[in-house]
Amino acid sequence: MRGAMQQSKKQPKILVIHGPNLNMLGKREPEIYGQTTLAEINDRLQQLGAKLGLEVETFQSNHEGEIIDKIQHSLETFNGLIINPAAYTHTSIAVRDALILVNYPIIEIHLSNIHNREPFRHASMIADVATAQITGFGADGYTMAIEAMVRLIHQ
Ligand code: DQA
Repeated sequence: MRGAMQQSKKQPKILVIHGPNLNMLGKREPEIYGQTTLAEINDRLQQLGAKLGLEVETFQSNHEGEIIDKIQHSLETFNGLIINPAAYTHTSIAVRDALILVNYPIIEIHLSNIHNREPFRHASMIADVATAQITGFGADGYTMAIEAMVRLIHQ
């Protein structure tokens, strides 16, 4: 009985948004961003999500408006967001404003450590509206973010 009830319980849904140029991972400045492709990162996230009892949906866009649409549409359906806004991190008040709307935990993530790179990368428009930031762990940061998200949504 208890098993049946647990099975009917809906799995938390996590949205992972990848911003501009992250579709080029593997080819793009591998000395900074590593050799792992976005497809490989997404596969790892799906596998880890399945292991931890989460549904993981991934989305990549090179367009600011599409990212904002995705955030707006996520409001009713998702329990947490992991977002690498890429260059929009440093420029987009519009992405920040969209994130203010949401009521679930947000983890901001970067492959590189944005704080030890060029000065224009030190500022994040979204850091103070995110729940937490993971930066500088390369592709491993995404699996860390999924594990951290489990804690955030169950706390
Ligand atoms: C990035 C860092 C940003 O400064 C840069 O514009 C990116 C990727 C990262 O993951 O390290 O596109 O968000």
